[in-house]
Amino acid sequence: MLARELEALTDGEFDLIANLSNASAAVYQSLDDINWAGFYALRRDALRGDVLVLRPFQGKPACIRIPVGKGVCGTAVLKDEAQLVPDVHEFPGHIACDSASNSEIVIPLHANGEIVGVLDIDSPTVGRFTEEDLNGLKLSAEVLERAWERSLNKT
Ligand code: SME
Repeated sequence: MLARELEALTDGEFDLIANLSNASAAVYQSLDDINWAGFYALRRDALRGDVLVLRPFQGKPACIRIPVGKGVCGTAVLKDEAQLVPDVHEFPGHIACDSASNSEIVIPLHANGEIVGVLDIDSPTVGRFTEEDLNGLKLSAEVLERAWERSLNKT
């Protein structure tokens, strides 16, 4: 099970880039029929506006910065709510990084009580992600939240 694998991979390690790198690889290897899996981190910027910045991923090169409120990822952060999008072409403002992507799931990640980023997964198949996937991925997200928190608290 993915959550358990992530627990083992991140156990005792507080280097965030290392943990997110292994986590993106584990997610990418464990799910069928996906073409991108990775992370964006929230950078708070009072002057220019809060923005998500690309972090470790597997798949084709992706957009580096996504303003909060834009696209599926920015919407997940703005609403602080996971987004399960069966057809990205019907999602207003969807940001196409890889034209092969047709469905997407995004889960906000929290540490020390606030949003720190998102886990984003894309599939070439319309309707690829189910509620069951979402529930399983939320468990995985909880493991990653603890790892992210360790990196902030250096524990
Ligand atoms: N499609 C996303 C952008 C990130 S890529 O899928 C990797 C969005 O609309 O937020």
